[in-house]
Amino acid sequence: MTDAILSVDGLVKRFGGLVAVNEVSFDVPRGLIVGLIGINGAGKTTLMNCVNGIYHSDGGRVVVDGHDMTNHKPHEIASLGVGRTFQIPRIFHRMTLIENLMVPVLGSEKSDAELTDMAEACLDRVDLYPLRGNNGEELSGGQQKLLELARVLMFDPALILLDEPFAGVNPSLCRIMIQQIEKMKQDGKSFLLVSHDLTSIYRLSDQISVLNQGEIIASGTVETIQSDPAVIEAYLGN
Ligand SMILES: Nc1ncnc2c1ncn2[C@@H]1O[C@H](COP(=O)(O)OP(=O)(O)OP(=O)(O)O)[C@@H](O)[C@H]1O
Ligand SMILES: [Mg+2]
Repeated sequence: MTDAILSVDGLVKRFGGLVAVNEVSFDVPRGLIVGLIGINGAGKTTLMNCVNGIYHSDGGRVVVDGHDMTNHKPHEIASLGVGRTFQIPRIFHRMTLIENLMVPVLGSEKSDAELTDMAEACLDRVDLYPLRGNNGEELSGGQQKLLELARVLMFDPALILLDEPFAGVNPSLCRIMIQQIEKMKQDGKSFLLVSHDLTSIYRLSDQISVLNQGEIIASGTVETIQSDPAVIEAYLGN
């Protein structure tokens, strides 16, 4: 039996008559990066929203680190050590970058000085330290993605869900992002990574699952996925 930090079993999410996620099952083994790919509208973000409790699912189970967290609230799931970033960044525009990083550690027993040092170190890891006193609204789209990653670093979760972290991010910022994901993996973190950037996701992922019209049509190593006829058809058509 694998040691899974996340087990998704038969997950279903419907929007009216549309079955956006249809009996999806997969595991994220501890310490590994599982990539999730699929064309626009395949159900990737919806699946992530069910995993971290933003959406109430209509069937199936979500088990985090051995705890059944199906349809628990997002803060309850986060408190088990699940962090995430969003396809459309959700940062606080009228707060400084440092203040943005304080949000996930509200209520911490650490001193303000200690937390500020930590926040500065996290911003430095994504090259945003020079902008630490600026407001979130002053960041470019790509920098907002980096700020979200810095917020994940600050929160220090065991399982990290990344929804399109590379979208709209230029190659040099992408390199920073990839380096930080690799470093977090070395530190023992586990990931569910959604991306249309196949080069980056193939490079980073230990395993890939392919979602198509709400169903997983293939799972395996990068090599097996790349040569799977069902995947090629889903991406390129007949
Ligand atoms: N809140 C919602 N209400 C109704 N339908 C929704 C909602 N969210 C998503 N959907 C539908 O569910 C399906 C899956 O959408 P989802 O956003 O999960 O796709 P995705 O794989 O993340 O796509 P993309 O690659 O474009 O981000 C789509 O058909 C979408 O229109
Ligand atoms: Mg999406």
